[in-house]
Amino acid sequence: MREMLEKLERRREKARLAGGEKRMAAQHARGKLTARERIELLLDHGSFEEFDMFVEHRSTDFGMDAQKIPGDGVVTGWGTVNGRAVFVFSKDFTVFGGSLSEAHAQKIIKVQDMAVRMRAPIVGIFDAGGARIQEGVAALGGYGEVFKRNVLASGVIPQISLIMGPCAGGDVYSPAMTDFIFMVRDTSYMFVTGPDVVKTVTNETVTAEDLGGARIHTTKSSIADGAWENDVEALLQVRRLIDFLPACNTSGVPEWPCTDNVDRLDYSLDTLAPESANQPYDMKELVRKVADDGDFFELQESFAKNILTGFVRIDGRPVGIVANQPMVLAGVLDADASRKAARFVRFCDCFEIPIVTFVDVPGFLPGTAQEYGGLIKHGAKLLYAYSEATVPLLTVITRKAFGGAYDVMASKHVGADLNYAWPTAQIAVMGAKGAVEIIFRQDLGDPALIAARTKEYEDHFMSPFIAAERGYIDEVIMPNATRRRIARGLAMLRVKRTERPWRKHDNIPL
Ligand code: HXC
Repeated sequence: MREMLEKLERRREKARLAGGEKRMAAQHARGKLTARERIELLLDHGSFEEFDMFVEHRSTDFGMDAQKIPGDGVVTGWGTVNGRAVFVFSKDFTVFGGSLSEAHAQKIIKVQDMAVRMRAPIVGIFDAGGARIQEGVAALGGYGEVFKRNVLASGVIPQISLIMGPCAGGDVYSPAMTDFIFMVRDTSYMFVTGPDVVKTVTNETVTAEDLGGARIHTTKSSIADGAWENDVEALLQVRRLIDFLPACNTSGVPEWPCTDNVDRLDYSLDTLAPESANQPYDMKELVRKVADDGDFFELQESFAKNILTGFVRIDGRPVGIVANQPMVLAGVLDADASRKAARFVRFCDCFEIPIVTFVDVPGFLPGTAQEYGGLIKHGAKLLYAYSEATVPLLTVITRKAFGGAYDVMASKHVGADLNYAWPTAQIAVMGAKGAVEIIFRQDLGDPALIAARTKEYEDHFMSPFIAAERGYIDEVIMPNATRRRIARGLAMLRVKRTERPWRKHDNIPL
C-alpha cells in the first residue's frame, strides 16, 4: 500500500512540475504566476479540488507522441471564494504554451458542464496561444465545444475571464463570449492574430502592447472590463467581484452582513449638484455615498467615462449602478456610453440584480461622427435593454434629464418601478437656450425678449414638478436622504414579479 501511495505522490509531483522548472522560472521572470499559483490565490486557502491531473493528449503527429505532459496545459477543478462554490480552469503557459488540444478541451468542457449543473460561477484564467497547432482540426473542434458551452451557460451562471498572458485565437474568442474580461497590465495581450501575422498579411508593424495590450482593450476596443497591475491584484479583485455576483440566474443575489447604517443621511449631497447647470460635479461621489461603506466595484472605468457602471451593496445586497457622469462630456449619451451601459443592464437583468440609475444627462451627442458611427443603433441598445429588463429598476434624476435621454435612462415610461428626482432636477425636451432659439426664432433679434422667454421656459420646465404632477416622478426627494430612500425602495421591490408574453428570444439591435 505504501508503495502505491508513494507512486501516486510521485505522479502528482510530476504533474505539478508541468512544463518544468525552467519554464516556470521563465514565467516568474516575466512577472507572471503559474497556473496553479493563480488558482491558489483566487480560491479560499486549501479549498481547491483538482480534476484530471493525469490527462494527456493523444496526438502522434510532429513527434508529439514523445512529448506528453500530465495535465496537458490546463489545470481544472473547483473550490470556494469566501465559502461559495466556484469552478475554475487555468491555462498553463509552461505546457505547449497553454495551447488547446482535444484532451485539454475535454478538461475545460467537464468543468463548464459541472458549473452549469451545479449552478455556480466559472472563472477561466487565460495565458495561452490558442488551438494546438500540431493537432489541427481536433483542436479546432475542441474550441467549438468550449464556445458552444460558453453560449449555453450565458445568462445561467456568471462567467469571468482573466487574461494573464499573451492570448490568441480561441483563447480570446472564448473569453469574448463570457460576462467579464479582466487583464493584467504589461503582461497580457489579446488578439485574434499576433503582430507577426499582422505584418505578413497587412504589412503593418505593431507591438503586442499596441495591438492588444490592456491599455488598448480598456480604453479603445472596450473588450476588457478592467485591468490591474499584476497577477496578485487581479486575482484578489476577481474575488471581490465574485462577492457581488449571484451563483446563478435563479439563486438571487448573495446577502452579506451590512455594517453600514441604511438610514444614514448625508447632508453633503444637498449641495452636490451645483446651481449652474453648466458646472460639472463628480457622480462617483453620489454613488459612493449611497453605497454600503462607500464600496463601488466599477466596470469599464477607462472607457466611455461619461457613463458609470458597476456594483455596490445597499443593506448588504448587491445592486447594479448606471449613472451619467457630468464630469466627462457633461454626461452626454454617445454610442460608446450607450453600448457600455446596455451590456451592463442586460447582465444585471439576466442575474436578477436590481438596477439603480442616477440621471444627469443633457441628451444624445449630436454630430456626423456619432451618426456615422451608428448612434441610433447603439442608443437603441440601451433603450431596449432597460425596456426589456424585469429586475427592480429605481431611478434618481439629480439634475438634467433632457430629450430622448430622459426616456432612455430608466424612465417610468420604459418600465422603471420607482422614479425619484432631486429638487434640482430639470426634465425637458432640451435645455432652455436651445428650446427658446427654436420656438421663439422670430424674437432672436430682441435680447431682452429672448431673456424673458428663456426665464419663462426655465420657470415652467426646468424643475421636477411638471413630471411629478403627471406621476412620471413618484416623489421629489431630499438629496441627503437618497441612500435611505433607495434602500427602502429596493426592500419593497424584492418581491417584484413581471410576466412577459412567450417568445423564442428577442431581437435586440446589435
Ligand atoms: C502549439 C504553441 C502554440 C500553439 C505557442 N506554443 N502557441 N504550441 N500550438 N498554438 C508553444 C511554442 O511553440 C513554445 O514552445 C511555447 O508555446 C511558448 O511560445 P513562444 O512563442 O515561445 O512564446 P511567446 O513568444 O511569449 O509568444 C506567445 C504567443 C505565440 C504570442 C501566444 O506563441 C503565438 O503567436 N502562438 C501562436 C498563436 C496562434 O496563431 N494560435 C492559433 C490560433 S487559431 P516551446 O517548446 O518552445 O516552449 C485558433 C482557432 C480557434 O485558436 C478558433 C477561433 C474562432
